[in-house]
Amino acid sequence: MKKFIILLIILTIAGFAYAQSKEAAHSIVLPAVKTDLAAGEGMDTTEKYCSICHSLDYITMQPKFPKATWTVEVNKMIKVMGAPIPEADAKVIIDYLAAQYGTGG
Ligand code: HEC
Repeated sequence: MKKFIILLIILTIAGFAYAQSKEAAHSIVLPAVKTDLAAGEGMDTTEKYCSICHSLDYITMQPKFPKATWTVEVNKMIKVMGAPIPEADAKVIIDYLAAQYGTGG
């Protein structure tokens, strides 16, 4: 009888462990949200850095800005939001944004 109770306890624990391991195997599939940036020099660099924290919609939904505004915006992402963008790449991004999403001035 004692052996039976011990066996019962072991089986119960094993059952819980199994149920938990099944639980851990749950997975979800996230929808792929893709925003296409305008083709141009610097697009890859812009896509790489500017999609780390938010969607690229943040760029494409803006009105056309002068280069000075894009410069302020990119610097704000780096200094205020903490975007890890090296200076040389920031310059490439600003040139790209000014060329593709700029007012030409
Ligand atoms: C470290 C995270 C991070 C990265 C990287 C980043 N952003 Fe942002 N961005 C933010 C946050 C946070 C906001 C504010 C979001 C909000 O208010 O909903 C924001 C907002 C914006 C906005 C909306 C206007 C504004 O100023 O709030 C634009 C445009 C934008 N980002 C452009 C860019 C561009 C261009 C890049 C690439 C150079 C970039 N972001 C990279 C964090 C980031």
